[in-house]
Amino acid sequence: MSKYTGVIFDLDGVICSTDRFHYQAWKAVADKLGIPFDETVNSRLRGVSRMDSLEIILENGGRVLSEDEKLAVAEEKNEIYKGLLSSMTEADLSDEVKNTLLALRSAGLKLAIGSSSKNTKYILKQIGLGDFFDAISDGTNITRSKPDPEVFLKAAEFIGLSPAECLVVEDAQAGIEAAVAGGFDSAGIGDAAACGKATYAMNGFADLKAICGV
Ligand code: BG6
Ligand code: MG
Repeated sequence: MSKYTGVIFDLDGVICSTDRFHYQAWKAVADKLGIPFDETVNSRLRGVSRMDSLEIILENGGRVLSEDEKLAVAEEKNEIYKGLLSSMTEADLSDEVKNTLLALRSAGLKLAIGSSSKNTKYILKQIGLGDFFDAISDGTNITRSKPDPEVFLKAAEFIGLSPAECLVVEDAQAGIEAAVAGGFDSAGIGDAAACGKATYAMNGFADLKAICGV
């Protein structure tokens, strides 16, 4: 018997890796604006919405733009980003992630996505998971970005469960903070495992089988 009835997964950095594409796309627009952007700033954007990411980049570069200019820059970044995402295939879904998801599904757990990304459905389709999850809560159905818990609360609602019945899986500190704020247990991977705020620190995605008791 699993300790949880549902698992809510962040997408970028948990199910697949899109960090390098976000980096390349933001770097292209930052270079065009003539402002600095590096991996350190990029790592602060993990889990943060597109517009909030732009605010961080502009603040770091000491640049002020009008609202219209910001929307145009964000749109340009997203066009470059989507172009890079088009190269993703089912090969970008690791065997470890795929087999673990199947084991959790076989144990009867409800599986949902809780991602800030407005490109969630496109990315899932690219990696062959377009129809896999029981529900998707993403950047298109929220008004507040992580660390606000809205995206996870909506995901739990979509699969008909309370936060206490669900585990959130995250790679970003902002995501773990969102899980805590929403009353969820959380499993952190990568940076999120090291932040000290997750219920479980994972060494790899397959650790979820032991955490969920399947
Ligand atoms: C999150 C990423 O999943 O989605 C962030 O970790 C990103 O880095 C955010 O900014 C928004 O993504 P998108 O695809 O809507 O621009
Ligand atoms: Mg993430």
